[in-house]
Amino acid sequence: MKTAITEMFGIEHPIIQGGMHYVGLAEMAAAVSNAGGLGIITGLTQKTPADLANEIARCRDMTDKPFGVNLTFLPTVNAPDYPGYVRAIVEGGVKVVETAGNNPQAVLPHLKDAGIRVIHKCTSVRHALKAQSIGCDAVSVDGFECGGHPGEDDVPNFILLPRAADELEIPFVSSGGMADGRSLVASLAFGAAGMNMGTRFIATQEAPVHDNVKQAILAASELDTRLVMRPLRNTERVLTNDAVERLLEKERALGADLKFEDIIEEVAGVYPSIMREGEMDRGAWSCGMVAGLVYDIPTCGELIDRIMQQASDIIDRMDGLRRA
Ligand SMILES: Cc1cc2nc3c(=O)[nH]c(=O)nc-3n(C[C@H](O)[C@H](O)[C@H](O)COP(=O)(O)O)c2cc1C
Repeated sequence: MKTAITEMFGIEHPIIQGGMHYVGLAEMAAAVSNAGGLGIITGLTQKTPADLANEIARCRDMTDKPFGVNLTFLPTVNAPDYPGYVRAIVEGGVKVVETAGNNPQAVLPHLKDAGIRVIHKCTSVRHALKAQSIGCDAVSVDGFECGGHPGEDDVPNFILLPRAADELEIPFVSSGGMADGRSLVASLAFGAAGMNMGTRFIATQEAPVHDNVKQAILAASELDTRLVMRPLRNTERVLTNDAVERLLEKERALGADLKFEDIIEEVAGVYPSIMREGEMDRGAWSCGMVAGLVYDIPTCGELIDRIMQQASDIIDRMDGLRRA
């Protein structure tokens, strides 16, 4: 399938694996890229720019297909060494960067000068338009269903995607709640040129996380995610567990007085224990409602081939309907 996104990124299928903390390692990105999608290494999971350079080199050893790097701009007290990470990306010869979080304007000139394509992930039409106006090549439109940070507007993809299509001139992909060929055809119907998946890619053979994480997604239904950190205006959709319910209880008890320090135990630095050690109740970890649509743990190749086959079957069926 050829779309503006496959052409822009030089990939076979219009499917992107969004950056995921402690999941988007070289193994994950290479597996998705080898399957014809666009795999993405999560920049900030690497502690230093030198570590990121090493991860990029590892990925290149595992695939000769294009892959990207995610750079997430979150409000933090000690900002990461973004210029260093950008240098590692440029010197590593990476050709696609997925930015997310705050406005990526500060790094954009360096990336563009190096001929890198930038896709900015955002959760509202106004942020998508901003990304377009500062020179991003494409956007990933992340609906309220998504795993991770859905923003504060709570607009689901049935509205957000056609709204984006009505306003944007640059190509965009759908993100949040995407799982299968139905998701892809629906995304195309809404005007997207492809789709981005997070949660679905964690439940694959190659995802470099503990099996407990994959099994938790497999066992979860669409009712099992929670929104945490809402009172801090840093909302995150996570899979429920003991730590998350404790966190929510603190949010209820403290109300407007809640501070980040009150929930630090449940949210800060918990990813390594969860993703590597499989300690599922250690804290809050991002997961989308789409967990309810995850029924197996295929290889990335099987998953992407199945999505493309199902999409093609649906399109044929619709063509049949049109002729009937
Ligand atoms: C475990 C996990 C970690 C994530 N970490 C990041 C991150 O570090 N940076 C980022 O931009 N997005 C992150 N995301 C969001 C994904 O890139 C993607 O936008 C989202 O998962 C799409 O929604 P879906 O899970 O319904 O497919 C994360 C998502 C998950 C599930």
